[in-house]
Amino acid sequence: MKKIFIAVLVGSVALFAACTKKASPAKVVVKTNYNIDIVPLLQARCTPCHLPSQKGFKANFENYESAKKYAADMVTRIQLNPGDKGFMPFKHAKLAEEEIAVFKKWVADGLLEK
Ligand code: HEC
Repeated sequence: MKKIFIAVLVGSVALFAACTKKASPAKVVVKTNYNIDIVPLLQARCTPCHLPSQKGFKANFENYESAKKYAADMVTRIQLNPGDKGFMPFKHAKLAEEEIAVFKKWVADGLLEK
């Protein structure tokens, strides 16, 4: 009787342990891409100058193929400070660190489109 009791107890503990074992977190790797992450920033912070649809006539960032060619230069320029030669966004406030980080991650992740 005692043995059965112990067996049931051990079994329950094992079952409990198995059920409460934390599921290993799914490895979610979210890569930064042009369509989802970069376009909203360009539309908010680089308009109208770099958006032909807004009558911007500077380097075209509205088109993925064109924008990615300027990616490295974008990252360099947005890290400058207002007043520095080449600072972007031209005559506007510097981007927030989080915004700059998005551009950097886009480059690091391989300049994906979507
Ligand atoms: C108010 C207008 C204006 C805004 C807003 C603006 N730019 Fe510019 N941008 C310019 C002008 C003018 C030039 C050309 C002068 C120069 O190269 O410094 C330029 C040039 C550039 C270049 C070099 C392009 C080339 O032809 O080699 C890059 C890269 C750039 N901007 C990035 C940005 C980014 C990124 C933003 C938004 C975060 C931005 N700019 C916002 C006016 C603007």
